[in-house]
Amino acid sequence: MANKIIVAIDGYSSCGKSTIAKALARYAGYTYVDTGAMYRAIGLYTLRKGLDDEAAIIAALPHIQVGFILSDGVQHVTLNGEDVEAYIRTLEVGNQASRISQIREVRAFLVAQQQAMGRHKGIVMDGRDIGTVVFPEAELKLFLTASPEVRAQRRFDELAGKGEKPDFDAVLADVNDRDYRDTHRAESPLRQAQDAIVVDNSRMTPDEQMQLVIRLFEEKLNKLVD
Ligand code: DC
Repeated sequence: MANKIIVAIDGYSSCGKSTIAKALARYAGYTYVDTGAMYRAIGLYTLRKGLDDEAAIIAALPHIQVGFILSDGVQHVTLNGEDVEAYIRTLEVGNQASRISQIREVRAFLVAQQQAMGRHKGIVMDGRDIGTVVFPEAELKLFLTASPEVRAQRRFDELAGKGEKPDFDAVLADVNDRDYRDTHRAESPLRQAQDAIVVDNSRMTPDEQMQLVIRLFEEKLNKLVD
């Protein structure tokens, strides 16, 4: 039987990382970890407690436990034992996650947990710094991209589907702001690892993308067996 590997999937917000990561994990029988959800859970905690200065957020870290549970077979993130999946996918929490993710201590706190989750390999992890910082030794690294307009449309549809009434231009501005923050922050900015394979899915159907990713995964496993 082939060895299990680590698959690192990085990329901009709303470019379908979690959809493809989940599908690949299911295909491979691997564990899926959504690291964005972990930053969002800390973002939610700080919003609820009204913490906005850096020192207060760092001081709160020992009181924050982020985890995952399965709810009807779907992975939900937990915050101090509470299932907070229903609260973390809003624009407000996303923006707060983007802000708190710039704090070095917050990143170190979550990166250590993410590395522990990958100790036994057999994991598909998505985020911004997985191939560069969390698992620089990951056997397969994918860097997903799509144009800002395509990503804004996807986020718009997602929010509308949840009953929110988003404004397209505001969503697009938000995508651009978040890209800027994610790629320009001092701590672990989003960048493509040198050995990552770029997948631009602007014009791919979900099926085409899935086929491509499965092919890349199988090729990698076969090479390791050779
Ligand atoms: O992928 P997402 O939109 O759920 O991520 C929310 C925020 O968390 C995003 O703005 C950047 C941050 N993040 C990060 O800094 N590093 C990660 N590995 C994952 C997310």
